Amino acid sequence: MPVTIPTLRLNNGVEIPQLGFGTYKLPPAQTRDLVLRAFDAGYRHVDTAQMYRNEREVGQAVSAGGLPRSEVFVTTKLNNAFHAHDDALAAFDRSLDALGTDYVDLFLIHWPVPALGLYPQAWAALEEILASGRARAIGVSNFQPAHLDRILKTGTVVPAVNQVEVHPYLRQDEVRAYGAAHGIVTEAWSPLGRGTVLGDPVIAGVAARHGVTPAQAVLRWHVQRGDVVFPKSATPERIVENADIFGFTLDDADVAAIDALDRDGRTGSHPDTENRTDR
Ligand SMILES: NC(=O)c1ccc[n+]([C@@H]2O[C@H](COP(=O)([O-])OP(=O)(O)OC[C@H]3O[C@@H](n4cnc5c(N)ncnc54)[C@H](OP(=O)(O)O)[C@@H]3O)[C@@H](O)[C@H]2O)c1
Repeated sequence: MPVTIPTLRLNNGVEIPQLGFGTYKLPPAQTRDLVLRAFDAGYRHVDTAQMYRNEREVGQAVSAGGLPRSEVFVTTKLNNAFHAHDDALAAFDRSLDALGTDYVDLFLIHWPVPALGLYPQAWAALEEILASGRARAIGVSNFQPAHLDRILKTGTVVPAVNQVEVHPYLRQDEVRAYGAAHGIVTEAWSPLGRGTVLGDPVIAGVAARHGVTPAQAVLRWHVQRGDVVFPKSATPERIVENADIFGFTLDDADVAAIDALDRDGRTGSHPDTENRTDR
């Protein structure tokens, strides 16, 4: 039975399904079929990026899935090499072409690339794209509070989301609190810590108490904190398992136990030092 996934309301009124399907590192040849599996399981939100080189296959699944376009929430992200204003507009056009759609639901700046210093310019381009109706919402990814401060000063639109690495080994309290104070929804990337948190005995204990798997316990923890999540899996059974998280509730003691696992458990790059433009 496909699950029904709740939505959150973004700061411009657009509704986003709180659980989506992550597509980073999905083998391109399997991406279309795996996204279709996710739709069968009830997912209605897909997270891709120019950097993932699978927008075309994601778009093929959206078309082949037969769902009305308005029932699928598609996010893509601006690649690091295209922050200059006109480059950002052209890169967005290429994304629409690859996805085979005339709008995306959410368009993000993927990384701030602070050494380049062009993200305020990229944000101005995203604001134009939003005004044109070709993105229903715009936001950022991997922005630290200082980067957000800068676009709140130079821009006119408050980002709808900030997509950052969050999981039990990296709670990201400061970035999440900044988002909460400014009406910016936090999206938790690598919600399973790319698998690193799943062997943790505390998480195993919480999972056992609820008769669920460690991945389900961790995803439920994210959802109860109010973040958006999109676990990635290339394994059909796990795609179904990861969506089945709306029939149980963690209690305060479970949440506190998982909260207490916080450490410097970053699995990806640090936004202050990620300056590559060649990916
Ligand atoms: N904005 C950014 O900079 C950024 C960066 C990274 C990721 N993201 C987004 O966030 C999404 C999720 O992050 P992620 O892919 O890095 O990591 P993740 O979802 O935390 O973890 C994926 C890993 O966990 C495994 N896994 C998934 N479900 C499982 C389960 N039920 N039991 C055991 N293992 C399981 C997967 O294995 P199998 O695939 O083999 O099943 C894969 O190795 C990405 O796909 C992407 O859309 C964004």
